[in-house]
Amino acid sequence: MAFVSMLLAITSYIASLLFVAAMPSFEGVTSWSSIGNLVPGMSFLEGLGPASTQGTAGHVPFYMSIAATRGNPGNVTMYRNRSPPLFYIHQSQLWHYHNESMIMPVNVHNTTGSSQLPLQMVVGTKSEGVPGGRWRWQGTMLFYENGSQNNQGLFYSCADVNGLNGLFLFLQW
Ligand SMILES: *[C@@H]1O[C@H](CO)[C@@H](O)[C@H](O)[C@H]1NC(C)=O
Ligand SMILES: *[C@@H]1O[C@H](CO)[C@@H](O)[C@H](O)[C@H]1NC(C)=O
Ligand SMILES: *[C@@H]1O[C@H](CO)[C@@H](O)[C@H](O)[C@H]1NC(C)=O
Ligand SMILES: *[C@@H]1O[C@H](CO)[C@@H](O)[C@H](O)[C@H]1NC(C)=O
Repeated sequence: MAFVSMLLAITSYIASLLFVAAMPSFEGVTSWSSIGNLVPGMSFLEGLGPASTQGTAGHVPFYMSIAATRGNPGNVTMYRNRSPPLFYIHQSQLWHYHNESMIMPVNVHNTTGSSQLPLQMVVGTKSEGVPGGRWRWQGTMLFYENGSQNNQGLFYSCADVNGLNGLFLFLQW
């Protein structure tokens, strides 16, 4: 399997107050202002790395995307997406925002079944997969960590059998 490493960066920061005002699903949060503080915004996530600099100026960038029709769960992939999906972090969980009634967690699955090989990112309808990890922004870069281990901001794109790119990561000291 050929893996291409990249960083994932916030490209356009969309502070959507209408979205947070309509968000019904966070327990214990009742007011617009408190939820506004918890969810500062959401963004497209662009892949930065050798593969993303290929091609001519004017090419659509590689964006973190989902290998499924709109509004459905699926494997996270990277491709030149003219209409990329939106993501944000709430309470250390990375979420995909589809619309105000459909918000799905980005989970991490131990699909390779190996301690050496990377974990795979999958958008699901509920939280599942390997627990304990935390998502955060470091500057404009996406990081994944667990205790004192983290992924150094690195993600690995790999072509799967369907010809789509799966997105993987692994934790290091
Ligand atoms: C959100 O998206 C889902 C799936 O596409 C759709 O069934 C639902 O009607 C949408 N809800 C709103 C409020 O647009
Ligand atoms: C998601 O990726 C896994 C490989 O880790 C693959 O087995 C599965 O078929 C993929 N799912 C889809 C819907 O492409
Ligand atoms: C993934 O599965 C392998 C094999 O069962 C195991 O050795 C490894 O610790 C698991 N990794 C995580 C992060 O759970
Ligand atoms: C995080 O660490 C805990 C405790 O070592 C472990 O049980 C869990 O599988 C880890 N999760 C990931 C995503 O590595």
